[in-house]
Amino acid sequence: MVVCVCNAIREADVREAVRKGASCPLSAYQALGRRPRCGQCLPYARSIVADESVAA
Ligand code: FES
Repeated sequence: MVVCVCNAIREADVREAVRKGASCPLSAYQALGRRPRCGQCLPYARSIVADESVAA
């Protein structure tokens, strides 16, 4: 499922970025070569980062 509509970032992309070391939505997006635009996705992205961090 798509997390960030502006950047077409999928949940799987965010999770992979976290597994590679990203610790927040911003660093995850940066790892994907993108950055937040409207910011609407950030709360959701944050919860995915938190969830994946626990799973790691
Ligand atoms: S939906 Fe992610 S920045 Fe707009």
